[in-house]
Amino acid sequence: MNRNQQSRQVRLDQLGAYPFERLKVLFAGHHTNPDITSIDAGAGEPRLPLPPFVADTLAQHLGGFSKYPSTVGGLPLRQAIASWLERRFALQHVDPLTQVLSANGTREALFAIAHALINPEAVRKPNVLMPNPMYQIYLGAAYTAGGDPVFLPCTAETGFAPDLDAVPEDAWSNTALVYVCSPSNPTGWIADSAYFEQLLTLADKHDFYIVSDECYSEIYWQERPVGLLEVAESSGREGFSRCLVMNSLSKRSALPGMRSGLIAGDASLIARFAKMRSYTGPATPLPLQAVAAAAWSDETHVAQHLDVYRASLKAFFDVYGTDEAGIPPGSFFVWLPVVDEEAFAVAAYEQQSVIVLPGSYLSADDADGVNPGAGYIRAALVDGPEKAAELARRLKAVRI
Ligand SMILES: Cc1ncc(COP(=O)(O)O)c(C=O)c1O
Repeated sequence: MNRNQQSRQVRLDQLGAYPFERLKVLFAGHHTNPDITSIDAGAGEPRLPLPPFVADTLAQHLGGFSKYPSTVGGLPLRQAIASWLERRFALQHVDPLTQVLSANGTREALFAIAHALINPEAVRKPNVLMPNPMYQIYLGAAYTAGGDPVFLPCTAETGFAPDLDAVPEDAWSNTALVYVCSPSNPTGWIADSAYFEQLLTLADKHDFYIVSDECYSEIYWQERPVGLLEVAESSGREGFSRCLVMNSLSKRSALPGMRSGLIAGDASLIARFAKMRSYTGPATPLPLQAVAAAAWSDETHVAQHLDVYRASLKAFFDVYGTDEAGIPPGSFFVWLPVVDEEAFAVAAYEQQSVIVLPGSYLSADDADGVNPGAGYIRAALVDGPEKAAELARRLKAVRI
């Protein structure tokens, strides 16, 4: 085993258990209240009916299972993705051949991209910046790709924005890649145009790439979120340089089991990633590509889903009140302050048969040992308004 393999193995060993594994350990030996049915608000899994076109489209394309799909995705799917990006973000042109790839869910793509874009052997620029708390894949990706994660705390004081002004100059100059998540899991924060503009200016100044995870772009309380590509274009940038976005049918179309998403942006980064993917091979099966193309081409089901999420958020806060936590601008998560997040999660499980995730499981300790997710729990409003109101009632009744 050479030095590099060794260090990668050590890095994998040092990576903590995934949040849901930690939750299982936390709940071991505890039992839900046998008098009430369970509400699982732990996982961010949309639970809405299948969009109406799914079954027919799948049935029409079953023969595609007899063929190997390409890893980049077939042209009909990439064309549907490019057209959606153009419509949704008012972009002049997205080239389906050079600026778009299919992803088998964005999770794998968000992980793999760090391996394509940072070069541990050179150790020239090891820093990978990410929000904290964050979708844990960014951390695992940075770590296993040989990068050094740098955490941008997202706290009530920063309005839950990852604070770009708090990053020291020498950290910027060593930065290869910045992950941004808008709307954010878990806090619901949404980046505005000025935020993306600042990030783009920094990317040019310090020569790094931006990966914008926009999986929750279609789930918002009031204003429709802007995307990185549209800000890049409107600020006069050619060809989305330095930018990649990822988006997913898991949230927009409530199809998490289909494992389908998009990667789009800078053609040189797309080419580099496509080359890597031609070896690792995350190809989307052809029948699923057909369903995915249909899903990116239809907004009716997305609007219906948004109505449900908004009604759920309203139902939740009508009961819970907004004194302690404000209504999140985006995503279907609520990020609620509590005194002790692990004790609260256990008490909610035992007393109210409710599963929520301790915020500290979604965050990392910063250099000073402070975990910005401590003192919060995350609950997903994915079961419709009635259950959301019931969830709020039960969370309010938890005693620790
Ligand atoms: C912020 C964020 N990004 C990406 C994903 C991955 O979604 P998928 O792999 O289903 O596209 C999730 C899933 O929960 C998420 O919360």
